[in-house]
Amino acid sequence: MALLRVGRMGRLRDINDQISLMVKQKILRAYEQMAKKYDELIDHKPHNAYYDRPTTLQLIGDVAGKNILDAACGPGKYAEILMAAGAQVTGFDVSPTMVELAKARNHGKGHFFVHDLSERLADLADETFDIIVCALALHYIEDWTVTMQEFFRLLKAGGKLVISIEHPFSEYQYYQSKKYFEIEHVHTDWRGFGGSIEVHCYRRSLTDCLMPLIKAGFQLEEILEPKPTEEFEKLDPRHYQELMNFPAFLCLKAVKVR
Ligand SMILES: C[S@@+](CC[C@H](N)C(=O)[O-])C[C@H]1O[C@@H](n2cnc3c(N)ncnc32)[C@H](O)[C@@H]1O
Repeated sequence: MALLRVGRMGRLRDINDQISLMVKQKILRAYEQMAKKYDELIDHKPHNAYYDRPTTLQLIGDVAGKNILDAACGPGKYAEILMAAGAQVTGFDVSPTMVELAKARNHGKGHFFVHDLSERLADLADETFDIIVCALALHYIEDWTVTMQEFFRLLKAGGKLVISIEHPFSEYQYYQSKKYFEIEHVHTDWRGFGGSIEVHCYRRSLTDCLMPLIKAGFQLEEILEPKPTEEFEKLDPRHYQELMNFPAFLCLKAVKVR
């Protein structure tokens, strides 16, 4: 009986692994498909330029002389801003096209490579970075355990992790979830990056957003629920009103205290 149960559990694990792999492939395909358009729009796309970035950059603070890891860097917009402010930046992304666009945008400055956020970064030494930023990407990862352990290992003592994520309350509402406490695989259609693109991700509870950081050893220092800027209002007044009354993103700063 015990052997049979182990067999069934093993098979279930295999099936779950296969589903996770399929989801990962769908996410990669979506970003490969939209990468060029994403790069063209990223400078002024309201949710990025006038909602996420002002708040996330506020949490990052002064970066002159700092060594920064941009995890899931996309087309390298954060890297561009951070290097212009005097930082050295290493960035990675799962999408090879995004990595090429990050290199092109930054004209040979910075170091960019293809890597999956959920895997260990074995080539990078302990305590390499002063700051790690991971903007709008963690919802593509089912299990944040390894990612947070790696972020903790790679930061110097006193180093900062700054993340922006989809707000768990907004996702719960948007996906009309009935299972707040579960980590749910969900998907939606994006129409803002050239045609309709099916984007898959994982929604989770507030606890499941915060505890992986705390378990990895981080101390939470600041939490911001962004408000859109005036530029946002000019470009997209309807979403401006919505975002002034209910948050879509959540930005966090955590510190490696030891
Ligand atoms: C919404 S974009 C954000 C890009 C960038 N951080 C920014 O804010 O401009 C999400 C990025 O996450 C990347 N991504 C998705 N899954 C990933 C994974 N498993 N590992 C690394 N990057 C991933 C996508 O390719 C995409 O570039």
